[in-house]
Amino acid sequence: MDKVLITGGLGYLGTELSKFLVKNGYKVKILDIGYFNNKFGKKNKNIKVIKKDIDNINSKDLKGFKKVIHLAAISNDPAALLNSKITWETNVLSTLKLLDICKLSKIKQFIFVSSGSVYGVSKKKKVDENTELVPLSDYNKTKMVGEKIVNNYKDFFSTVILRPGTICGVSDSMRLDLTVNAMTYSAITKKIITVNGGKQIRPQVHIKDMLNAFLFFLKNEKLQGTYNIGFENYSILKVAKIIKKKLRFPKIYIKKEFDVRSYRLFSKKILTKGFKHKFKVEDAISDIFEKYKNKKLNNSEQSYRTKFLSKKLKK
Ligand SMILES: NC(=O)c1ccc[n+]([C@@H]2O[C@H](COP(=O)([O-])OP(=O)(O)OC[C@H]3O[C@@H](n4cnc5c(N)ncnc54)[C@H](O)[C@@H]3O)[C@@H](O)[C@H]2O)c1
Repeated sequence: MDKVLITGGLGYLGTELSKFLVKNGYKVKILDIGYFNNKFGKKNKNIKVIKKDIDNINSKDLKGFKKVIHLAAISNDPAALLNSKITWETNVLSTLKLLDICKLSKIKQFIFVSSGSVYGVSKKKKVDENTELVPLSDYNKTKMVGEKIVNNYKDFFSTVILRPGTICGVSDSMRLDLTVNAMTYSAITKKIITVNGGKQIRPQVHIKDMLNAFLFFLKNEKLQGTYNIGFENYSILKVAKIIKKKLRFPKIYIKKEFDVRSYRLFSKKILTKGFKHKFKVEDAISDIFEKYKNKKLNNSEQSYRTKFLSKKLKK
């Protein structure tokens, strides 16, 4: 049974990824500081959780592991602004430390999750992996620097850098601060979708396509390099209209202030390697609605990462 170490495995993406990899025959060890709730019980023999800051990682943590997926991060723009020092330490310095331990431990594959937001603002119709990076925020900058560090290790193990668009869909460690998730939740509970600006383009990717992408790279260890992952480039207003059509009842309110980031991800490279994406924004909206109807949608304070972290990352 192949073993995978996932840093940040208790987060939105990591929680679903850990369950998914176990379903696909992997044994998973999660290394996570535990900012949010641990959804895995002690009895789960295929998912072991180590509550630890990645900065304290040592070679014992990696004993017996050949594959690492690095998700741990302060994971969005406003949260990164709460404490710039912790953000740079977590997203950059600890990434360097982790890579050194991976080198010492002779791992075979390292998958790093960067972000499509490293492109910043681009009017290009096809923002491919060779497009110049214009990171605007601290968060985007830490991801860009993180990528550069990862690239320095490609002679020691296979390195993959993923640049996802904004992820959408349900997770047991839910985030309601991501575009589609937030707007859908507001549409369901308040019958209103508030659109900030509206014209800015944001690529979206369904969480299940993300999970399949990780599996794709784990199974194709020789595929190195950087890959965009975003298959639906919609304006924020278009996302609101898709939700309105799907859920029928909400009203759309447009506010003037907005975040200027705007870019389209062109993700042909991963498709030419044989990856197939299957899910759409509409699927994410239906999944969120279903979970809500079944009273299983986690809408705790933790679902709003920045608000929740504002107490934990006090300067
Ligand atoms: N969610 C998205 O839309 C999206 C888009 C692009 C890229 N990403 C990237 O994907 C990764 C996962 O995102 P997410 O949405 O699951 O974020 P998340 O905030 O839900 O999860 C991040 C996890 O990292 C952990 N963590 C933070 N600092 C740590 C430290 N010092 N040591 C150990 N663990 C630590 C947290 O406890 C948390 O469980 C992040 O790197 C994020 O930047 C996410």
